Amino acid sequence: MNTQDILDHMISNSSWVNPEKTVDTIKYGDGKKAIKKVAVCWYPSIKTIQSAIDTKCDLLITHEPTWWDHFDNPGGWREKGPGLKKTHLLEASGLVVARLHDTWDNWPQIGIRDTFAKGLGLDTFLAEDKTRWHGMYEIPEQTLSSFAKYVARKVTPLGQDAVQVIGDPYMIVHRPSIGVGCGGPHEDMIELGSDVLIMCFDGASYWSARERFAEQGVGVITLEHGTTEMWGMESMADYIQNTWLELDVHYLDKHWKAWHANAD
Ligand SMILES: [Fe+2]
Repeated sequence: MNTQDILDHMISNSSWVNPEKTVDTIKYGDGKKAIKKVAVCWYPSIKTIQSAIDTKCDLLITHEPTWWDHFDNPGGWREKGPGLKKTHLLEASGLVVARLHDTWDNWPQIGIRDTFAKGLGLDTFLAEDKTRWHGMYEIPEQTLSSFAKYVARKVTPLGQDAVQVIGDPYMIVHRPSIGVGCGGPHEDMIELGSDVLIMCFDGASYWSARERFAEQGVGVITLEHGTTEMWGMESMADYIQNTWLELDVHYLDKHWKAWHANAD
């Protein structure tokens, strides 16, 4: 049992992934080395890597890149600053790092989008786009303000204690839509009737996205990227554990999280 076995299984069960172009590859270490203890995380911060090492893991599976580059190409931050610290930790420990991103984003039922919906309590599915990145759901009619507070309560256990909102707080909403990480939702969901978009900051800059959505009369609730994908990574840890019973799998969430300061 090795890291490459996991990658082969995941990619061969993901018809939406091009095996030649996917970022779901080994990022550090020997993919053929036998593994027993596995850590799963959303983002491999230095604390997360250290924790995987301290708990004697052989493999760290991450959803996002390690060195702040989608392709984690050679050079760059691998060789300087905090990235060099990560590289040195990996060198000294022999920990293997692999990424599962393209496969898990679209994995039905237990992948990123569907666990995000489940975590938010959005269980009445209405529609999705062709890529299945965007999904729209039905909720009881309520004000945007009330729904935003509901979302904030749902994500509090993930370490996000407030959400940011654009739109009339008193507008009535009943069809929220979500996306996968920084990929939407966009006008496609508004055209299907969505009246509130739940987005992550990384995929919704103000003037190029959120301001335009607000001009179309929809509410926009913005969350941190990690908040939208952490439920999915907990679910991945369960999937890997249940698929390979001989492994010992742990979920880690020691990445930096944003916090909010309110004016007194
Ligand atoms: Fe992401």
